[in-house]
Amino acid sequence: MQTIRTLDALRSAIADFRSDGAGIALVPTMGALHSGHIALIETARRQGRKVVASIFVNPRQFGPNEDLARYPRREAADARMLSEAGCDLLWLPPVDVMYPAGFATNISVSGVSEGLDGAARPGHFDGVATVVAKLFNQVRPDVALFGEKDFQQLAVIRRMVADLDFGIEIEGVPTQRDDDGLALSSRNVYLEPEQRAAAVALPRALGEAARAIARGDSPADALAAARESLIAAGFVVDYVELVDAATLTSDIAEDRPRRLLAAARLGATRLIDNLDVPAQG
Ligand code: PAF
Repeated sequence: MQTIRTLDALRSAIADFRSDGAGIALVPTMGALHSGHIALIETARRQGRKVVASIFVNPRQFGPNEDLARYPRREAADARMLSEAGCDLLWLPPVDVMYPAGFATNISVSGVSEGLDGAARPGHFDGVATVVAKLFNQVRPDVALFGEKDFQQLAVIRRMVADLDFGIEIEGVPTQRDDDGLALSSRNVYLEPEQRAAAVALPRALGEAARAIARGDSPADALAAARESLIAAGFVVDYVELVDAATLTSDIAEDRPRRLLAAARLGATRLIDNLDVPAQG
């Protein structure tokens, strides 16, 4: 696996991949990798493309009181994991390569980015869209893979790619979970042991609500029950909402795929999760 930190070296490596006739898959990450990221690399590898992973802890997607400074950074261990998983190239841009002095562009995707996490974390999805657009222009992949755990992020990126004619296929890969159901996240390392034990209430509450809604119970009651279980487990709830899986609004037309999304905090650690809600019957 090549590790590259300059744009010139990246362009030359990508040109070599292209001259081999190989398609290119990009897996953008912020590092602190876990098996969820490795599932993205493995999915890309199975498609027979050259696999490029990026690691960049993107300052523009963290709010002023968020965890940018303490976000886990484990470059050597991440590089080992990627290499063992068969990644071909690791793109590790320094901050001044990604955002040189004078950088002044912001990409803002309206609609899908506005509710849910967009409301709880102002500016977050502008930061995500801006850095992902830059990564797409730097690597010029045929396909880019993202975990479904960040479901709203995936919807924002799909919208941006369609609106700006990137011509890149966006593939969502199902959330990877620990044995007890907790979605894998780089932020799980922040949880104290008792918080980690309590965190399982999040996938459980979502699972119960999804089953209740699928069998025809009132969505409002199911969402209220999920909020109560989370509060009982010690969470401070940001939201638990049932939305249209494509528009992410609560205006859900009949027969449209539905998604249940939640964000809640245990102490200083904010966890998100989401589940498909199967059609009734
Ligand atoms: O999901 C993430 O790790 C980040 O939001 C991403 C897509 C790499 C952009 O910084």
